[in-house]
Amino acid sequence: MSDTAKLTLGEQELELPIIVGSEQERGLDISKLRGATGAITLDEGFVNTGSTQSGITFLNGEQGILRYCGYAIEDIAEKCDFIDTCYLLLHGELPNEQQRESFRSGIIAEMAIPSGVQDLIRSFPTSAHPMAIISAAIQALSTHRADQMDPLDADQVASATQGLIAALPTIAAYSHRHTAGQTFIAPNPELGYVENFLTMMFADENGEYEIDQDFVDAMNLLLIVHADHEQNCSTSTVRMVGSANSNLYASIVGGICALWGPLHGGANEACVKMLKMIADDNNDVAKYVAKAQDKDDNFRLMGFGHRVYKNYDPRAKIIKKACDVLLEKLDLDDPLFEIAQSLEKVALEDSYFVDRKLYPNVDFYSGVIYRAIGIPVEMFTVLFSLGRLPGWLAHWQEMHASPGKRICRPRQVYTGPTAREIQ
Ligand code: SDX
Repeated sequence: MSDTAKLTLGEQELELPIIVGSEQERGLDISKLRGATGAITLDEGFVNTGSTQSGITFLNGEQGILRYCGYAIEDIAEKCDFIDTCYLLLHGELPNEQQRESFRSGIIAEMAIPSGVQDLIRSFPTSAHPMAIISAAIQALSTHRADQMDPLDADQVASATQGLIAALPTIAAYSHRHTAGQTFIAPNPELGYVENFLTMMFADENGEYEIDQDFVDAMNLLLIVHADHEQNCSTSTVRMVGSANSNLYASIVGGICALWGPLHGGANEACVKMLKMIADDNNDVAKYVAKAQDKDDNFRLMGFGHRVYKNYDPRAKIIKKACDVLLEKLDLDDPLFEIAQSLEKVALEDSYFVDRKLYPNVDFYSGVIYRAIGIPVEMFTVLFSLGRLPGWLAHWQEMHASPGKRICRPRQVYTGPTAREIQ
């Protein structure tokens, strides 16, 4: 196959280099297009447009494949924990025992957050959405980390990376406890990462909490499957903000704000609210499957469909299986899990969804596990942020390391009024 594509534009003919990736994906390099022709490409929502070359995560949407640094998500979910996964995404390799212990202990040692940030969290109304709280708290945290602000200083970036992975579970837990009217529980250096998060979330006022290994395993699994997903909306936002040489904390806050949207990470919260609405409507699944395809109704099946996956989202498969195991172990019947399964069955037999290749995505079943653990629904997207943090950090680092790194500044085709004068 030729390593160039030919473009004919009026009288002009232009050869575009074809970039071929390690999985044989092809990208047409249009970096010389405007200079040679004055024309640009247009691609609303970047459906067909690659923003970069990346060696972190590979997706094959047609075959439902997801790999972090070459390892299948199913393999990682079975053999690793979230700390291993963070290390893998940040360093490109799984840690050996010594690397893992040094990475893990460095994070645990930094899980406490300054009292000023705790005061900021307490300053929010208890009705505040925790995504608003954590985004503000991360910015506040950065003002206590003046020695971690330079995006071009490798040591400062390494400290900020470790500091963010360490602090986010604490900030997340405190945002929940504040809205629940509870006092804050300090992290315990004797506990692991997930164990600390669950304890800070659910301990009583004396800091007492009995850790359930099933919950720890389920939490690790959910964090792992959310850890990265190549150039999704929030990761692209982190790259975009970082490309202006904004500091790492500010870049991550950009990702948190993008993830909050119900079309993106906010779908896990929206999905459970949708399932509750169906439950309250006599479990009338067929009615909502019909609503979802009514063009005059902006209702969508939350947790369904994906820009890349045109096959079953491998993460949804992993989570659905974990739901079965956890609910069985806890001898729990969650009516929403039953409704989700019947909704999936009806939708996947309906031509509207089949024709559009709409399948359950990562957000469809995750809420069932969060509910079994006792996570309130408003915290679901915060948990998504906790999982996605290492992916955001890895992509930000890769963006800065790219030899072609420059500020992201797309073009447009102007369609407004042509030149005119004020009369
Ligand atoms: C995440 O990008 C990532 O990798 C994201 C993510 C990650 O890990 O970072 O995987 C996490 O964000 C998962 C997606 C969570 N969002 C939802 O579950 C919200 C519901 N789903 C959608 O709104 C939608 O499917 C998107 C946003 C996920 C994808 O949107 P696209 O690719 O822009 O597709 P589209 O909106 O153009 O839909 C194509 C067609 C349309 O119908 P037609 O105009 O062709 O007739 O499919 C229909 C849509 O109306 N459609 C749906 C639907 N999703 C798409 N119809 C009903 N219910 C849905 N959920």
